[in-house]
Amino acid sequence: MASKSSPPLNRLKFLLGLFLVLVTTNLASAQLSSTFYATTCPNALSTIKSAVNSAVSNEARMGASLLRLHFHDCFVNGCDGSILLDDTANMTGEKTAGPNINSVRGFNVIDTIKSQLESLCPGVVSCADIVAVAARDSVVALGGPSWNVLLGRRDSASASLNAANSNLPAPTLSLSGLISAFSNKGFTAKEMVALSGSHTIGQARCTTFRTRIYNETNINSTFATSLRGNCPSTGGDNNLSPLDTTSPTSFDNAYFKNLQSQKGLLHSDQQLFSGGSTDSQVNTYSSNLGTFTTDFANAMVKMGNLSPLTGTSGQIRKNCRKAN
Ligand code: HEM
Ligand SMILES: *[C@@H]1O[C@H](CO)[C@@H](O)[C@H](O)[C@H]1NC(C)=O
Ligand SMILES: *[C@@H]1O[C@H](CO)[C@@H](O)[C@H](O)[C@H]1NC(C)=O
Ligand SMILES: *[C@@H]1O[C@H](CO)[C@@H](O)[C@H](O)[C@H]1NC(C)=O
Repeated sequence: MASKSSPPLNRLKFLLGLFLVLVTTNLASAQLSSTFYATTCPNALSTIKSAVNSAVSNEARMGASLLRLHFHDCFVNGCDGSILLDDTANMTGEKTAGPNINSVRGFNVIDTIKSQLESLCPGVVSCADIVAVAARDSVVALGGPSWNVLLGRRDSASASLNAANSNLPAPTLSLSGLISAFSNKGFTAKEMVALSGSHTIGQARCTTFRTRIYNETNINSTFATSLRGNCPSTGGDNNLSPLDTTSPTSFDNAYFKNLQSQKGLLHSDQQLFSGGSTDSQVNTYSSNLGTFTTDFANAMVKMGNLSPLTGTSGQIRKNCRKAN
C-alpha cells in the first residue's frame, strides 16, 4: 500500500512536477520575449532601427559606442539601464567609474530614441531594452550579424559606481584575468573571445594602450611606431586610434587576423593570442567569419539576459537619465 501511490496522488505528483518545470524554465529565461512590445508598442523596433541607422550614417563610430553601452550596462548589476542614470545629489552613478569616464558614449542617441518612443507609446519601452536593441541594430548597420533581441527588461532606479569599477574588465588584464572577469558573469573563455571580437569596430584612447606601444614586446614594431605618432609617451591621453587597424567601421573578423600578426591595440586584446589557451579560438575566428558571427550573436543574446528586472521589479523610466 505504502509503496504504491493512488491515481489521484500520481496526478498530483505529475502536476507538481509540471509546475516546477514551468517555474524553473521561466526563471531561466526571466520572462524576456522577442514579441514583448508587439501589441503595446508595435513600432518600437522600427523606430529604434531608423534612429540607429541615422546616427551610424552620421558617424560610423556611434555604432561601436552603442554596442559598448549595452556591454557596460549588462556587466554592472544586469541589463537594467543603470549606466544611463546621471549622478544626483544622493547617488553617484556609473558614468564616472574608471572604465566609463571620458569614454562611454551614445547617451544622446538613446535620449533621442526614448523621446520618440515616449510620444509613440508613453511609459511602455524601457531604456534597458532600447540599449539592447540599439546594440544589435548598430552591429547590423556596420555589416555584422543580426540576432533576435529578447525584450521586457525594466529599468533600475539606481546605479552603482563601485559595481562598475569592479565588474568591468580593464585593458591591463592578463588572459587569466579576462577569463575570470567573464566567468564571474557566467561566460566561457570561448564566449569571452567571441565577445571581444566587438573590438573589430570602434576607437580607444591613448591612455588605454600607451604602455603597450612603448613597452611591450609582443607587438609588431611597425604598428607600434605608427601609433606613437598620435600617442606620445606623456600627454595626449584622449587621442584616439582604431581598435581594428584594418577595417575600423566594418563588423568583420579582421580583429582576429590582427591578433595573429601582433597588431592587437590593447594589452588585453593581444592576451587572447599570446601563446595561451585561447590562441586556437582566435585562429578559428580568423579563418572562419561565419563561426565568429554565429558565436558572437549567441553570446550577445546571453549577455542581454544578464539579470534583467522583469514583471513588477524596477520601472519604465520616462527619461533614461533619471529615475521616475
Ligand atoms: C574582454 C575584455 C574587454 C576589455 C578589457 C575592454 C576594454 C576596452 C577599452 C579600454 C576600450 C577603449 C575605451 C576608451 O579608450 O575610451 C574599449 C572600447 C570598446 N569596447 Fe571593449 N573591452 C572588452 C570587451 C568588450 C566587449 C565584450 C564588448 C561588447 C560586447 C566591447 C565593445 C567595445 C567597443 C565597441 C569599443 C569601442 C567603443 C567606441 O568607439 O566608442 N568590449 N574596450
Ligand atoms: C535626496 O534625498 C533626500 C532625503 O532622503 C530627498 O529628500 C531628496 O529628494 C533626494 N534628492 C534627489 C535628487 O533624489
Ligand atoms: C615603460 O617602462 C619603463 C621602465 O619600467 C617605465 O619607466 C615607463 O614609465 C614605461 N612607459 C610606459 C609608457 O608605460
Ligand atoms: C609588421 O607589420 C608591417 C606592416 O604591416 C609588415 O610589413 C611587417 O612584415 C610586420 N612585421 C613582422 C615582424 O611581422
